[in-house]
Amino acid sequence: MSGIHFMKTDDLERVKDFYTNKIGMKEWVDQGQCVILKHGNMLLGFCEADEPDTDGVITFFYENKKQVNEMYDVFEDSAETKPKENETYKIYNFFAKDVEGRTIEFQTFLHPLDPYMDARELLEGRRSVRDFKEKEVPEEVLQDIFETCRYAPTSRHSQSYYFTPIKDRDTIEFMADRRAPNSGPIAEAPMAVAICVDSEKTGAPEQDGDIAAYHFMLTAWSHGLGTCWIAAMDRNDVKERLGIDKDHFVATVTPLGYPSNVPKTPSRKPAEDFVRYIT
Ligand SMILES: Cc1cc2nc3c(=O)[nH]c(=O)nc-3n(C[C@H](O)[C@H](O)[C@H](O)COP(=O)(O)O)c2cc1C
Repeated sequence: MSGIHFMKTDDLERVKDFYTNKIGMKEWVDQGQCVILKHGNMLLGFCEADEPDTDGVITFFYENKKQVNEMYDVFEDSAETKPKENETYKIYNFFAKDVEGRTIEFQTFLHPLDPYMDARELLEGRRSVRDFKEKEVPEEVLQDIFETCRYAPTSRHSQSYYFTPIKDRDTIEFMADRRAPNSGPIAEAPMAVAICVDSEKTGAPEQDGDIAAYHFMLTAWSHGLGTCWIAAMDRNDVKERLGIDKDHFVATVTPLGYPSNVPKTPSRKPAEDFVRYIT
Protein backbone atom coordinates (compact mmCIF):
# COMPACT_ATOMS: atom_id res chain seq x y z
CA MET A 1 0.00 0.00 0.00
CA SER A 2 1.12 3.53 -0.65
CA GLY A 3 -0.28 7.00 -1.41
CA ILE A 4 0.14 10.13 -3.50
CA HIS A 5 -0.22 13.76 -2.51
CA PHE A 6 -1.59 15.75 -5.52
CA MET A 7 -1.17 19.50 -5.98
CA LYS A 8 -2.26 21.99 -8.63
CA THR A 9 0.28 23.78 -10.81
CA ASP A 10 -0.09 26.39 -13.58
CA ASP A 11 3.24 25.38 -15.16
CA LEU A 12 3.55 21.60 -15.17
CA GLU A 13 6.77 21.48 -17.22
CA ARG A 14 8.57 24.02 -15.02
CA VAL A 15 7.54 22.26 -11.81
CA LYS A 16 8.53 18.87 -13.23
CA ASP A 17 11.90 20.27 -14.31
CA PHE A 18 12.50 21.78 -10.85
CA TYR A 19 11.69 18.66 -8.85
CA THR A 20 13.52 16.25 -11.15
CA ASN A 21 16.63 18.27 -12.03
CA LYS A 22 17.15 20.28 -8.89
CA ILE A 23 15.96 17.84 -6.23
CA GLY A 24 16.53 14.56 -8.04
CA MET A 25 12.97 13.19 -7.98
CA LYS A 26 12.21 10.53 -10.56
CA GLU A 27 9.25 10.65 -12.91
CA TRP A 28 7.04 7.74 -11.82
CA VAL A 29 3.87 8.07 -13.94
CA ASP A 30 3.15 10.58 -16.72
CA GLN A 31 -0.62 11.03 -17.10
CA GLY A 32 -0.44 13.93 -19.53
CA GLN A 33 -2.20 16.64 -17.53
CA CYS A 34 -0.71 15.23 -14.34
CA VAL A 35 2.69 13.88 -13.53
CA ILE A 36 3.59 11.78 -10.47
CA LEU A 37 7.12 12.11 -9.12
CA LYS A 38 8.94 9.84 -6.67
CA HIS A 39 11.52 10.51 -3.97
CA GLY A 40 12.26 7.33 -2.05
CA ASN A 41 8.79 6.23 -1.04
CA MET A 42 7.27 9.73 -1.30
CA LEU A 43 4.96 10.21 -4.28
CA LEU A 44 4.02 13.76 -5.30
CA GLY A 45 1.49 14.43 -8.05
CA PHE A 46 1.27 17.74 -9.95
CA CYS A 47 -1.76 18.48 -12.16
CA GLU A 48 -2.35 21.36 -14.58
CA ALA A 49 -4.77 24.00 -13.22
CA ASP A 50 -5.40 27.77 -13.41
CA GLU A 51 -3.92 28.46 -9.98
CA PRO A 52 -1.14 26.58 -8.17
CA ASP A 53 -1.60 25.11 -4.67
CA THR A 54 1.11 26.60 -2.50
CA ASP A 55 -0.05 25.74 1.02
CA GLY A 56 1.72 23.36 3.33
CA VAL A 57 5.32 22.19 3.40
CA ILE A 58 6.91 19.51 1.23
CA THR A 59 9.61 17.83 3.30
CA PHE A 60 12.38 15.72 1.81
CA PHE A 61 14.30 13.72 4.35
CA TYR A 62 17.70 12.13 4.12
CA GLU A 63 19.86 9.59 5.92
CA ASN A 64 22.31 12.04 7.46
CA LYS A 65 23.44 15.66 7.84
CA LYS A 66 25.94 15.33 5.01
CA GLN A 67 23.15 14.69 2.52
CA VAL A 68 21.16 17.67 3.88
CA ASN A 69 24.27 19.83 3.49
CA GLU A 70 24.63 18.64 -0.10
CA MET A 71 21.07 19.84 -0.78
CA TYR A 72 21.92 23.13 0.91
CA ASP A 73 24.79 23.54 -1.59
CA VAL A 74 22.18 23.26 -4.35
CA PHE A 75 19.81 25.78 -2.70
CA GLU A 76 22.30 28.08 -0.99
CA ASP A 77 21.22 31.15 -3.03
CA SER A 78 17.49 30.73 -2.42
CA ALA A 79 17.42 28.94 0.97
CA GLU A 80 15.48 30.79 3.70
CA THR A 81 17.65 29.41 6.50
CA LYS A 82 20.96 27.64 6.94
CA PRO A 83 20.79 23.98 8.01
CA LYS A 84 20.58 23.73 11.79
CA GLU A 85 19.48 21.41 14.54
CA ASN A 86 15.94 21.80 15.84
CA GLU A 87 15.79 20.51 19.43
CA THR A 88 12.00 20.37 19.55
CA TYR A 89 11.63 17.98 16.64
CA LYS A 90 15.11 16.41 16.90
CA ILE A 91 15.86 17.15 13.27
CA TYR A 92 18.54 18.96 11.26
CA ASN A 93 16.89 21.00 8.54
CA PHE A 94 16.57 24.07 6.31
CA PHE A 95 13.76 25.65 4.30
CA ALA A 96 13.62 26.92 0.72
CA LYS A 97 10.94 27.67 -1.92
CA ASP A 98 10.07 25.83 -5.11
CA VAL A 99 9.48 27.59 -8.44
CA GLU A 100 5.83 28.34 -7.65
CA GLY A 101 6.41 29.53 -4.09
CA ARG A 102 5.70 26.34 -2.15
CA THR A 103 7.74 25.87 1.00
CA ILE A 104 10.13 22.96 0.72
CA GLU A 105 12.15 21.55 3.58
CA PHE A 106 15.25 19.34 3.64
CA GLN A 107 15.94 17.45 6.83
CA THR A 108 17.37 14.45 8.57
CA PHE A 109 16.05 12.98 11.79
CA LEU A 110 18.48 12.90 14.70
CA HIS A 111 16.97 9.73 16.18
CA PRO A 112 16.33 6.15 14.95
CA LEU A 113 13.33 5.70 12.66
CA ASP A 114 11.00 2.85 11.95
CA PRO A 115 11.59 1.44 8.43
CA TYR A 116 10.37 3.63 5.58
CA MET A 117 12.45 2.64 2.52
CA ASP A 118 10.91 1.30 -0.62
CA ALA A 119 12.21 -2.03 -1.94
CA ARG A 120 14.43 -0.56 -4.62
CA GLU A 121 16.09 1.92 -2.27
CA LEU A 122 16.66 -0.89 0.22
CA LEU A 123 18.11 -3.36 -2.30
CA GLU A 124 20.29 -0.84 -4.14
CA GLY A 125 21.26 1.20 -1.09
CA ARG A 126 22.45 -1.55 1.30
CA ARG A 127 26.22 -1.49 1.68
CA SER A 128 28.75 -3.57 3.57
CA VAL A 129 29.52 -1.28 6.51
CA ARG A 130 32.85 -1.51 8.32
CA ASP A 131 32.86 1.70 10.39
CA PHE A 132 30.31 2.27 13.13
CA LYS A 133 29.22 4.85 15.68
CA GLU A 134 29.60 3.88 19.35
CA LYS A 135 25.84 4.28 19.83
CA GLU A 136 24.18 1.10 21.13
CA VAL A 137 21.46 -0.61 19.12
CA PRO A 138 18.22 -0.17 21.13
CA GLU A 139 16.75 -3.50 22.26
CA GLU A 140 13.34 -2.66 20.72
CA VAL A 141 15.00 -2.07 17.32
CA LEU A 142 16.78 -5.43 17.60
CA GLN A 143 13.51 -7.16 18.49
CA ASP A 144 11.75 -5.46 15.56
CA ILE A 145 14.44 -6.79 13.19
CA PHE A 146 14.04 -10.34 14.53
CA GLU A 147 10.28 -10.00 14.10
CA THR A 148 10.74 -9.30 10.36
CA CYS A 149 13.31 -12.12 10.09
CA ARG A 150 10.53 -14.61 10.90
CA TYR A 151 9.53 -14.26 7.26
CA ALA A 152 12.76 -15.59 5.68
CA PRO A 153 12.08 -18.63 3.50
CA THR A 154 13.50 -22.03 4.55
CA SER A 155 13.73 -25.46 3.01
CA ARG A 156 10.44 -27.31 3.59
CA HIS A 157 9.48 -24.46 5.89
CA SER A 158 11.87 -25.91 8.45
CA GLN A 159 12.42 -22.52 10.15
CA SER A 160 15.77 -23.98 11.09
CA TYR A 161 17.72 -20.73 11.62
CA TYR A 162 18.34 -18.73 14.77
CA PHE A 163 20.20 -15.56 15.73
CA THR A 164 22.78 -15.17 18.48
CA PRO A 165 23.32 -11.53 19.52
CA ILE A 166 26.82 -10.84 20.85
CA LYS A 167 27.35 -7.80 23.09
CA ASP A 168 30.21 -9.00 25.31
CA ARG A 169 33.30 -6.97 24.27
CA ASP A 170 35.80 -9.84 24.73
CA THR A 171 33.68 -12.13 22.56
CA ILE A 172 33.37 -9.43 19.90
CA GLU A 173 37.18 -9.03 19.86
CA PHE A 174 37.56 -12.81 19.67
CA MET A 175 35.26 -12.93 16.62
CA ALA A 176 37.09 -10.03 14.99
CA ASP A 177 40.38 -11.93 15.31
CA ARG A 178 39.12 -15.12 13.69
CA ARG A 179 39.74 -14.15 10.08
CA ALA A 180 41.68 -10.94 10.50
CA PRO A 181 41.93 -8.66 8.65
CA ASN A 182 38.71 -9.77 6.88
CA SER A 183 36.83 -10.19 10.15
CA GLY A 184 38.22 -6.93 11.58
CA PRO A 185 34.97 -4.93 11.01
CA ILE A 186 33.30 -6.94 13.80
CA ALA A 187 35.41 -5.09 16.38
CA GLU A 188 34.31 -1.69 15.00
CA ALA A 189 30.65 -2.22 15.95
CA PRO A 190 28.93 -2.05 19.35
CA MET A 191 27.57 -5.56 18.80
CA ALA A 192 27.59 -8.54 16.45
CA VAL A 193 25.05 -11.19 15.50
CA ALA A 194 25.76 -14.82 14.54
CA ILE A 195 23.25 -16.25 12.09
CA CYS A 196 23.06 -20.00 12.68
CA VAL A 197 21.11 -23.07 11.60
CA ASP A 198 20.11 -26.17 13.53
CA SER A 199 21.19 -28.74 10.94
CA GLU A 200 18.95 -31.42 12.43
CA LYS A 201 15.89 -29.44 11.39
CA THR A 202 16.74 -29.03 7.70
CA GLY A 203 18.26 -30.75 4.71
CA ALA A 204 19.59 -27.41 3.43
CA PRO A 205 21.45 -25.70 6.32
CA GLU A 206 23.67 -23.52 4.11
CA GLN A 207 20.79 -22.20 2.04
CA ASP A 208 18.54 -21.63 5.07
CA GLY A 209 21.35 -19.85 6.92
CA ASP A 210 22.57 -17.72 4.04
CA ILE A 211 19.07 -16.56 3.16
CA ALA A 212 18.25 -15.80 6.80
CA ALA A 213 21.50 -13.84 7.10
CA TYR A 214 20.72 -11.72 4.04
CA HIS A 215 17.15 -11.22 5.28
CA PHE A 216 18.65 -9.98 8.54
CA MET A 217 21.08 -7.66 6.76
CA LEU A 218 18.38 -6.08 4.60
CA THR A 219 16.05 -5.65 7.57
CA ALA A 220 18.86 -4.09 9.60
CA TRP A 221 19.55 -1.64 6.75
CA SER A 222 15.88 -0.68 6.62
CA HIS A 223 16.32 0.39 10.27
CA GLY A 224 19.38 2.48 9.38
CA LEU A 225 21.77 -0.16 10.74
CA GLY A 226 24.89 -1.40 8.98
CA THR A 227 26.08 -5.00 8.67
CA CYS A 228 28.88 -6.77 6.81
CA TRP A 229 29.07 -10.38 5.72
CA ILE A 230 32.15 -11.90 7.32
CA ALA A 231 33.28 -15.00 5.47
CA ALA A 232 34.12 -18.47 6.76
CA MET A 233 32.66 -18.21 10.24
CA ASP A 234 31.45 -21.82 10.33
CA ARG A 235 34.42 -22.77 12.50
CA ASN A 236 34.72 -24.87 15.63
CA ASP A 237 36.39 -22.14 17.68
CA VAL A 238 33.57 -19.71 16.81
CA LYS A 239 30.94 -22.28 17.76
CA GLU A 240 32.71 -23.20 20.98
CA ARG A 241 33.03 -19.57 22.08
CA LEU A 242 29.36 -18.89 21.34
CA GLY A 243 28.12 -22.15 22.87
CA ILE A 244 26.77 -23.31 19.53
CA ASP A 245 26.40 -27.04 18.83
CA LYS A 246 29.30 -28.17 16.65
CA ASP A 247 26.90 -29.76 14.16
CA HIS A 248 25.05 -26.48 13.59
CA PHE A 249 25.86 -24.22 10.64
CA VAL A 250 27.03 -20.64 11.24
CA ALA A 251 26.31 -18.66 8.07
CA THR A 252 28.16 -15.55 9.21
CA VAL A 253 28.88 -13.36 12.19
CA THR A 254 28.03 -9.80 11.21
CA PRO A 255 28.87 -6.57 12.99
CA LEU A 256 25.73 -4.54 13.74
CA GLY A 257 25.52 -0.83 14.45
CA TYR A 258 24.77 2.65 13.17
CA PRO A 259 27.21 3.44 10.33
CA SER A 260 29.74 6.22 10.88
CA ASN A 261 30.77 5.85 7.26
CA VAL A 262 28.81 4.28 4.41
CA PRO A 263 31.14 3.21 1.58
CA LYS A 264 30.45 4.44 -1.95
CA THR A 265 28.59 1.85 -4.01
CA PRO A 266 31.20 -0.41 -5.66
CA SER A 267 30.65 -0.36 -9.42
CA ARG A 268 28.31 -3.05 -10.66
CA LYS A 269 28.29 -5.00 -13.93
CA PRO A 270 25.43 -4.06 -16.26
CA ALA A 271 22.34 -6.24 -15.83
CA GLU A 272 22.76 -7.91 -19.22
CA ASP A 273 26.00 -9.49 -17.95
CA PHE A 274 24.00 -11.41 -15.35
CA VAL A 275 21.39 -12.77 -17.72
CA ARG A 276 22.18 -15.70 -20.00
CA TYR A 277 19.32 -16.63 -22.26
CA ILE A 278 19.06 -20.19 -23.55
CA THR A 279 19.81 -20.13 -27.28
C1 LIG B 1 30.12 -14.52 0.87
C2 LIG B 1 30.66 -13.15 1.22
C3 LIG B 1 31.77 -13.05 2.01
C4 LIG B 1 32.26 -11.78 2.40
N1 LIG B 1 33.30 -11.72 3.29
C5 LIG B 1 33.71 -10.50 3.73
C6 LIG B 1 34.70 -10.43 4.76
O1 LIG B 1 35.20 -11.44 5.26
N2 LIG B 1 35.08 -9.20 5.19
C7 LIG B 1 34.53 -8.03 4.69
O2 LIG B 1 34.92 -6.95 5.15
N3 LIG B 1 33.58 -8.09 3.72
C8 LIG B 1 33.14 -9.27 3.25
N4 LIG B 1 32.12 -9.34 2.31
C9 LIG B 1 31.51 -8.10 1.78
C10 LIG B 1 31.90 -7.86 0.32
O3 LIG B 1 33.23 -7.37 0.25
C11 LIG B 1 30.88 -6.84 -0.27
O4 LIG B 1 29.61 -7.44 -0.29
C12 LIG B 1 31.26 -6.43 -1.69
O5 LIG B 1 32.48 -5.70 -1.71
C13 LIG B 1 30.17 -5.52 -2.32
O6 LIG B 1 29.93 -4.38 -1.52
P1 LIG B 1 28.46 -4.08 -0.94
O7 LIG B 1 28.09 -5.25 -0.03
O8 LIG B 1 28.61 -2.79 -0.19
O9 LIG B 1 27.52 -3.95 -2.10
C14 LIG B 1 31.63 -10.59 1.92
C15 LIG B 1 30.50 -10.72 1.10
C16 LIG B 1 30.00 -11.97 0.77
C17 LIG B 1 28.73 -12.06 -0.05
